Amino acid sequence: MAELKGLILSGGKGTRLRPLTHTSAKQLVPVANRPVLFYGIQAMADAGIEEVGIIVAPETGDEIRAAAGDGSAFGVSITYIEQASPDGLAHAVLTAEPFLGESPFVMYLGDNLLRDGITELARTFATERPDALILLTPVPDPEHYGVAELTDGRVSRLVEKPPEPETDLALVGVYMFTPAIFEAARAIEPSPRGELEITDAIQWLVDGGLRVDPHVVHGWWKDTGQVHDMLEANRLILDDIAERHDGELVDSRVEGRVCIEAGARLERATVRGPAIIGAGATVRDAYIGPYTAIAEGVTIESAEIEHSIVLAGSTIRDLDSRVEASLIGRDVTIGRGPAMPRAYRFVVGDSSEISIL
Ligand code: TTP
Repeated sequence: MAELKGLILSGGKGTRLRPLTHTSAKQLVPVANRPVLFYGIQAMADAGIEEVGIIVAPETGDEIRAAAGDGSAFGVSITYIEQASPDGLAHAVLTAEPFLGESPFVMYLGDNLLRDGITELARTFATERPDALILLTPVPDPEHYGVAELTDGRVSRLVEKPPEPETDLALVGVYMFTPAIFEAARAIEPSPRGELEITDAIQWLVDGGLRVDPHVVHGWWKDTGQVHDMLEANRLILDDIAERHDGELVDSRVEGRVCIEAGARLERATVRGPAIIGAGATVRDAYIGPYTAIAEGVTIESAEIEHSIVLAGSTIRDLDSRVEASLIGRDVTIGRGPAMPRAYRFVVGDSSEISIL
């Protein structure tokens, strides 16, 4: 069998993560100060995959290239593949066909996080050699997902968001394929939403008598497509973070597992972990609560924040109330204005969301 390759889907529109995706790829939004995409690349490297293709959109390709580079930082070789328009996951697979060739491959949605990675999965795929292997996880609300029905231990039917689900096994954003998937993706028609759906392509394999195996994942899995998922992913990753205090602490108290990067400065601050504070950040007369990721160069002054993600270069200062469950973009300033009349003043981009007391 040819060497297993990796395919990460990092194109798409990211409409559900606006306004951040107006200016940046959603796969680059950091979780515990690391772009979501990097966890997928790392999972591939950990599984021994050497060649990784990354599908990018024309608008965000340059930014993703700049962030992940040639892959050497992860120990893989990355090839970037531009998908002209986000016409569906099966369309992305077809776009990558010249890169994938005859190799079996693992397809990984670039905005997904899988606690236990893909190493075991890649091993099962190599020994069992089904035509495709799909990852499934039990969920309490299967009506919101693509779900798989199983017969005699094989996948017999895939249904997209069934109103009355027959099973609670939802499709996780990771799949293992053989080149049979190309023929399937060519055979199907676009769905009512105009996309070539990967579930239709897999169903085509099943209907043609090919073997599609399920693999049920029990470690956590997170799709970070929406703000609350991002915060949840941040919480899950921070739960496993290693404690490290490389920054400077002046009259400050740090409780629990907190990672403070070199060059960060805490003055009269209280930090209650799990949390991460990026390089060059300043936290002064402030409280950072659990499940918060403060990126590099951020200033938090006379303010309190918890269960939030703050991207690089932003400033939060002089607030009376605590900030929580927030996702704050790059170079944002939130603070009390000195000018009279006392009023709210906003300069906010499209599709932003502000909730005040
Ligand atoms: P989705 O989250 O399903 O789609 P999206 O990115 O367009 O987001 P939204 O629904 O908020 O508008 O996509 C899952 C992953 O696959 C994500 O990393 C983007 C990627 N993708 C592609 O690379 N090409 C595509 O054609 C599609 C639909 C998604």
